Amino acid sequence: MAEIIDGKGFAANLRVAIAQQVAALKGQNLIPGLAVVLVGEDPASQVYVRSKAKQTVEAGMRSFEHKLPATTGQAELLALVAKLNADPAVNGILVQLPLPKQIDPAAVLDAIDPAKDVDGFHVINAGKLATGGDALVPCTPLGCLMLIKDRVKDLAGKRALVLGRSNIVGKPMAMLLLGESCTVTIAHSRTKDLPAECRRADILVAAVGKPEMVRGDWVQPGAIVIDVGINRVPTPDGKGRLVGDVAYEEAAKVAGAITPVPGGVGPMTIACLLRNTVVAACRQRGIAVPKI
Ligand code: GUN
Repeated sequence: MAEIIDGKGFAANLRVAIAQQVAALKGQNLIPGLAVVLVGEDPASQVYVRSKAKQTVEAGMRSFEHKLPATTGQAELLALVAKLNADPAVNGILVQLPLPKQIDPAAVLDAIDPAKDVDGFHVINAGKLATGGDALVPCTPLGCLMLIKDRVKDLAGKRALVLGRSNIVGKPMAMLLLGESCTVTIAHSRTKDLPAECRRADILVAAVGKPEMVRGDWVQPGAIVIDVGINRVPTPDGKGRLVGDVAYEEAAKVAGAITPVPGGVGPMTIACLLRNTVVAACRQRGIAVPKI
C-alpha cells in the first residue's frame, strides 16, 4: 500500500513557517499585503476568497478584499488593478477566476504588475519560469513540487509525466520538474496510449479535471502520484462526493506514495499563495527572500 502524502499537514507546517517569517519582517518595517479581487457571486470562488483572506490574516499579513458585482465591466476592473498596482501597501494581487463573460481574463491578468502577480499567471512570469528567471510561480504546481521534493531528495533523471496542459497547472508543473532535471512528458487529451505513457512515470501528476480517469494499472509500482483534480461526483443521497483525477483506491495499491483528495494538493495552494506574497514583498523592498 502506498504511503499517503499528507498535504493538509504539510500546508499547516508551511503556514507556521511563513507566519514566523512574516513576524521577522515586521522588524524590518515590512508587513506583506495581499489584495484579492472577486467579481460576481460564484459560490466556489466565494469559499476560496474567504479562505485566502482568513489564512493571510492568520499568517500576520494584511488582506485587502475587493468584491465587485457580476455586472462589472472590464474597464472598471482594469481601473481597480491599476490602483492596486500603484498601492505600496499591496505586495500581491490576485484576481479570482473565472471572471464573468464580459471580461477578457488575459487582458486583466496581463494588467497586473508582474512583481505583484502572486498567482504567477502573467506572461512575464510564465516566461521567466520557462527561461530560468526569478519568476513568481503558480501556486498549485509549486505546492505539488514541494510535496514531491519532500519525498524524493534528488529528482535528476526521474521520469515525470504531467497529465494536463493548462497554463495554470500542467505547463508550469512541467517547467518546474524540468528545472529539477526530470525527464518530462506532458500528456493530454490527444496523447496516444495514455496508460502506457503513465506507466513509464516515476512521478505522475494528474491535472485534467476528469474524475478517477487514471486507473490503478496505469501506475508504475512504487511511483509517486500527485492528484490535482477536485471533481464533485453524484451520490445517491444527492450531496455528491469529491474525487480526484486518479482512482485512489486502485492507485494506492500500486503507488509508492499518493496524495488523497481532499487533503492532498488542495491545502498547499493557499499556503503557496502566502509564500508568494512574502517572496513578492521581499523582492519589492530589496530584502533577501527567506528560505522555506
Ligand atoms: N480560480 C481557481 N483557482 C484559482 C487560482 O489559483 N487563482 C485564481 N486567481 N483564480 C482561481
